[in-house]
Amino acid sequence: MIKQELHKLIADKQACIGVIGLGYVGLPLIVEFGLKGFRGIGFEVDTKKADEINAGRSYIVDVSDENVKKCVDAGVLTATTDFSKLSECDVIIICVPTPLRKTKDPDMSYILSAGGEIQKYMRKGQLMILESTTYPGTTDEVLQPMFEEKGFKLDEDFLLAFSPERVDPGNPQFQTHNIPKVVGGVSKDSTEVSSFLYSQIVDTVHSVSSARVAEACKLWENTFRAINIGMANEMAKVCNALGIDSWEVVRAAATKPFGFMPFFPGPGIGGHCIPLDPHYLSWKARQHGFDSQFISLAEQINSGMPKYVAGLVRDALNDNQKSVNGSKILILGVAYKKDIDDMRESPALSIIDLLRSRGAEITYHDPFVPEVTFDHAYTIGDGEPLYNTDLTDDLIKGSDCVIICTDHSTVDYNRVCDLAGLIVDTRNALSEDLRNGSKAKLVRL
Ligand SMILES: NC(=O)c1ccc[n+]([C@@H]2O[C@H](COP(=O)([O-])OP(=O)(O)OC[C@H]3O[C@@H](n4cnc5c(N)ncnc54)[C@H](O)[C@@H]3O)[C@@H](O)[C@H]2O)c1
Repeated sequence: MIKQELHKLIADKQACIGVIGLGYVGLPLIVEFGLKGFRGIGFEVDTKKADEINAGRSYIVDVSDENVKKCVDAGVLTATTDFSKLSECDVIIICVPTPLRKTKDPDMSYILSAGGEIQKYMRKGQLMILESTTYPGTTDEVLQPMFEEKGFKLDEDFLLAFSPERVDPGNPQFQTHNIPKVVGGVSKDSTEVSSFLYSQIVDTVHSVSSARVAEACKLWENTFRAINIGMANEMAKVCNALGIDSWEVVRAAATKPFGFMPFFPGPGIGGHCIPLDPHYLSWKARQHGFDSQFISLAEQINSGMPKYVAGLVRDALNDNQKSVNGSKILILGVAYKKDIDDMRESPALSIIDLLRSRGAEITYHDPFVPEVTFDHAYTIGDGEPLYNTDLTDDLIKGSDCVIICTDHSTVDYNRVCDLAGLIVDTRNALSEDLRNGSKAKLVRL
């Protein structure tokens, strides 16, 4: 019986764990299994990443070189581009990207490609788990038939489940082991064995009745965030119009011990999850004749924030009798959030693009991001790449406006307040003391 066999392999730590896609999600996961003594094989299409892992080096902020090296030296972690080794694995976990097409429809090509490789090399007795965020139905409508096409039977020859990943890059408090894991199989045995597997590396596992529930759970969580951030952005604009400090308001509201959870305004949403995931849900809902208005509205508000920030910059320059055209603008922080290097969907890109299209001369400082490139398909400015610049006194002094797009903790904001003439702070990076003592003119979101 496949269930008992896999259960025993996991209990004895003899199960070999294959992870397809060693990015922000896949790498921490395989290292966590390695640290618990499970042998893992990472499958990558990017040869450079596979080479880095095999050399004992990490390229993900939250995963230390030390832990990668420890696993590689102990012989429990290897990375490869050879997918035939999938047949060596007892468990295969898919962690490939799930982007959107230009039409904002789900791009399933990565899941299909990973599923195709499994289909080619699968053998009887394996558990497959999808972790990539996707619409409800992907696991049983897309993957299950691919594996059955091979002539394999669910529960007899293979098990299949979905388990969403909740990793929060750059958050030292919550890492793989202490973030509760939701698991839903396409069969009862699939749920049981997957839950047992994750209980080896995660403190709390929450099993649900189906893969679809687990898929929907992830989209519910991230849609909740997208909508609440949209609401915070809308409230910030309302407060600005009324001349009220939105940050002070939300902090005051957050003192309510029940029924309120603070979300903060910002220059827009970024990363591989919040801007994308709700579209997976609305796309699937549309196929069933349902139009999700909340998701559309949040998307509209959040994606409009870079334009709003560009407007704040334009007005503040205007008050200094300057125009955007020809102004020297320094962007502090271009990653989509604090203290990480992830540029995907970063609102800083749109802000730079909008201001450059109006003739601004842009420089940026972000110690996490050496270079910024622009996708010409979406660019209205000149689209030229930009490079990280040292934050010298002359650079700050010589800028007509400094925009804090990302509040990295490596930046000395005290010095920025001392030397800049005009600061637009989109993250509330400047404390009250700094604001009170600042020589610069300040504009906040
Ligand atoms: N980044 C996050 O914070 C986060 C959080 C929760 C969930 N997720 C979800 O997890 C999934 C993975 O996201 P990520 O941030 O790790 O992406 P990523 O781009 O960092 O990593 C994906 C990796 O998969 C590799 N890859 C692509 N196609 C492949 C293939 N066919 N075979 C093997 N490797 C392949 C890429 O080279 C890359 O290294 C997505 O569905 C995402 O929505 C991400």
